[in-house]
Amino acid sequence: MKHDIVEKNIGLMAVLILLVISSGFLVEVVPLFFLKEPNEPVEGLEPLSALELEGRDIYIREGCHVCHTQMIRPFRAETERYGHYSVAGEYVYEHPFLWGSKRTGPDLARVGGRYSDAWQRMHLFDPRSVVPESNMPAFPWLFENKVDHTDTAAKLKVMQRLGVPYTDEQIANAAAEVEGKYEIEALVAYLQQLGTVISTKR
Ligand code: HEC
Repeated sequence: MKHDIVEKNIGLMAVLILLVISSGFLVEVVPLFFLKEPNEPVEGLEPLSALELEGRDIYIREGCHVCHTQMIRPFRAETERYGHYSVAGEYVYEHPFLWGSKRTGPDLARVGGRYSDAWQRMHLFDPRSVVPESNMPAFPWLFENKVDHTDTAAKLKVMQRLGVPYTDEQIANAAAEVEGKYEIEALVAYLQQLGTVISTKR
């Protein structure tokens, strides 16, 4: 039995396993380097405003991505619930992307516009006030803290360097745009634009 030879020789097995994995890499990953589509922004995609970008940082700071994904897979069960599946061109300005891997709560890739600003605020202040069975934590401090605007311009600049098409004017106005705003305003502004570049009609 030829198979015996492989099963009894760990060195040979390791080499063969490596061979299988690297051909998988060749077939799945290498073509992506030569395709244009995954690296092109979808039509109408705009960089986040300074306020939305600060909201995104609050989203990361509070660990929202630990319970929520931002990635709708192309399966009927997902598209029926969340809307159009996510496409690569929606993420080209995301550094880093927030796809996540665990859904304690629902996917948020297209939550923008699904609820009013007032609902979002109530939900973040006290999730049980609008969804009685919710086990999402409350984030009341977002209503007390103002956004720290001292680094906002620098954040936009870093994004610009990474290829996000911010204009120098946007960078110059960034701090003024967020100064005096509460963290909840930034976070809700961020949530309300999520996924709206592609129609969410279901
Ligand atoms: C411990 C896990 C957990 C964390 C952390 C968490 N959530 Fe949730 N979230 C949930 C669960 C569970 C639900 C579903 C029940 C509900 O609507 O409250 C939910 C629901 C939501 C919804 C409504 C989605 C929909 O389609 O109905 C939004 C919006 C949301 N969360 C935003 C946030 C934001 C923003 C943060 C960070 C500030 C956050 N969540 C942090 C668990 C979490």
